[in-house]
Amino acid sequence: MTDPKLAQKQAAAAAALRYIEDGMILGVGTGSTVNCLIQLLDGVRLKGAVASSDVTEAQLKALGIEIFDLNAVGELDLYIDGADEINAAGEMIKGGGGALTREKIVAAAAKRFICMVDDSKTVEKLGKFPVAIEVLPQARSYVARELVKLGGDPVYREGFVTDYGNVILDTYDLPLDNVSEMEKTLNNIVGVVENGIFAAQSAKIMLKASANGVETVTF
Ligand code: 5RP
Repeated sequence: MTDPKLAQKQAAAAAALRYIEDGMILGVGTGSTVNCLIQLLDGVRLKGAVASSDVTEAQLKALGIEIFDLNAVGELDLYIDGADEINAAGEMIKGGGGALTREKIVAAAAKRFICMVDDSKTVEKLGKFPVAIEVLPQARSYVARELVKLGGDPVYREGFVTDYGNVILDTYDLPLDNVSEMEKTLNNIVGVVENGIFAAQSAKIMLKASANGVETVTF
């Protein structure tokens, strides 16, 4: 029997397909929901894709999809990705897979972010899921102390190195009443490369799958 969560991810991915146009260079996210989308890209006549991680890049290449360097293309029309949490404003926490920095860069270069989720990811208030913070290795302890000063509880993601060679501090309990402010505050800490709050790069469309089908929410 198909796992119901997987079936919902597949349904959200199928719904995302209708936003993809022939000849596009598509920004492609990372994670198990995106994996469902990638499986469906076989029949799409893309010009190519900009990948948000090495893993995604390898999967796209295996399908024969040309990978473009973001520096070699202009603004992207569309970026499609999943999320760990998303609120009613389209603001998200991402980075469960550790690809947050490259995901945010590709999302920033795109006109529209479409977020595919199953209904377990929608929340009233962001923050049950820890905020992944990508940190230069040498700054790890310093940044951890600064996060504690902000009220956070950082946990070093042992044995994980990002595509950029950095480490991740998964940070619980940060005060997230104003997610935009916290996104900026975190990035002001010396040694922080990027954080997993996507408020500036919020989703424009959410495709939310549940047992009842896929709902399209526009922000
Ligand atoms: C990876 C991410 C993913 O989008 C997020 O973790 C959701 O993943 P999944 O689709 O596997 O639930 O931000 O860095």
